[in-house]
Amino acid sequence: MTLSKKSELVNLLNPTYDISALTEAVEIDFYALSDLELLGNGGYSPLRGFMNQQDYNQVLQSMRLQNGSIWPLPITLPVTEAVAQKIPLGSKVKLTYQGDVYGVLAVEEKFRPDKKEEAYQAYKTTDLDHPGVKRLFERGDIYLAGDVVVLQPLQRQKFQQFYLTPAETRAEFARRNWERIVGFQTRNPVHRAHEYIQKAALEIVDGLFLNPLVGETKSDDISAEIRTESYQVLLENYYPQDRVFMAFFPAAMRYAGPREAVFHALVRKNYGCTHFIVGRDHAGVGNYYGTYEAQEIFKNFNSHELGIRPLFFEHTFFCKKCGNMASSKTCPHGKEHHLTLSGTKVREMLHQGIVPPPEFTRAEVAQVLIKGLQEKD
Ligand code: ADX
Repeated sequence: MTLSKKSELVNLLNPTYDISALTEAVEIDFYALSDLELLGNGGYSPLRGFMNQQDYNQVLQSMRLQNGSIWPLPITLPVTEAVAQKIPLGSKVKLTYQGDVYGVLAVEEKFRPDKKEEAYQAYKTTDLDHPGVKRLFERGDIYLAGDVVVLQPLQRQKFQQFYLTPAETRAEFARRNWERIVGFQTRNPVHRAHEYIQKAALEIVDGLFLNPLVGETKSDDISAEIRTESYQVLLENYYPQDRVFMAFFPAAMRYAGPREAVFHALVRKNYGCTHFIVGRDHAGVGNYYGTYEAQEIFKNFNSHELGIRPLFFEHTFFCKKCGNMASSKTCPHGKEHHLTLSGTKVREMLHQGIVPPPEFTRAEVAQVLIKGLQEKD
C-alpha cells in the first residue's frame, strides 16, 4: 500500500456562484448544514451532493456507492412533504440556514426513504432510544437529492482557527514534513485512555492529528466549546508541539458505531491522514454495538482500497499494579487492579465539581471541564 498517495479532493466551494435568478429556497437544519460544509470542502470526497436513491440503497446494502467506492453511511437532505411538494425536479434551490444562503442544490430526485430499513442497516437497530435513530426519525420524510454548490461555510464566532478545510490540513502536514499521520476522532474530552492510545500510535508515525467532532451531538455529551478548552490545556502541557496538530471535524455525530468508524476513517483520509485510530466501541452508544465491532467491520475492506490504515486498540485502562495505562494485551493482572470509570460516571463527577482520579483524567483537564460545566449550569 502506498500510504503517501493522496486521494483527490472534490472542491464544491464557489463563493461567486450567481444565485440572483433562483426563487426557491429550502431551510436546512444544523445537521444538514454541516454535511453541506463537508461536501463543499472535500471532506466527503468523492461525494458531490446529497445521495440519490440508487446510491442511498447501495450504501445501505453494501457500504458502497454505485461507482463502487466505499461509503458506509447515507448523506441525505431530509425535508418535509410540504417542502418537497413545492420543489420542482430539475430546478435549482437555495439552501438556507437561519435565512442565510449557504449553498445551491440541483434537484435531481426526491424520494421517500424506508427509514426503518435505514435505521436497521446503518445503526443496526430501530430502537428510538438510540440517539442516531431518534434523529433519523425526527428529520423530514422526503429526501432531496442532487449535486450541490457551496457558497460559504458557516462563520463561527469562536475558535475560528480550528475550522480548517482538508486542503488546509494537508498543506499543514506537508509544511511540517509529516508523511505518516494518524487521525484521532473524539466527541469527548481527551482522557488518559485516549492519550495513551494516541501516544502509542505516535510512536510509529510522524504526527498526530487531533480531529474532535464539533457538530451536533446528543445533549448529555460535553459541548464542543468546553471540550476545546480542555484539549488546548492538555496539548500545551503534555504533547510535543511539533508532533501534534488540532483542527475540528464539523460533522454531526451519528452514533452508528461500526459503520461510522469506516466513515470517520474515510473522511480523515481526505483530511490527509494515512492512519486512523479505532479503539473500543468507536462511535458507539449504550450497548448497541459489541466492544470491537467497529474494528471487525474493517475486514470487509483492504487498506489499499480504503486508502487509510486503521490502527486498532484494545480497551485500555489504568492498572494499579502495573502503575501505568495498559490493556489486556499488555497487563497480566486481574480486573480488581484496574481503574475503569464509565463516561457517564465521570460526567456526573465533573458536574458535581469532583476531580476524577489523575489515572483517569489529567487534573488540568478536569479543572477546565468542571469550570466550563459549572458556568453552563
Ligand atoms: S467516539 O464516539 O468519538 O468514538 P470517544 O471520544 O470516547 O467516542 O472515543 C474516541 C476514540 O477513542 C475511539 O476510537 C474510541 O474507540 C477510543 N477509545 C475511547 N476510550 C477508550 C478506551 N478506554 N480504550 C481504548 N480505546 C478507547
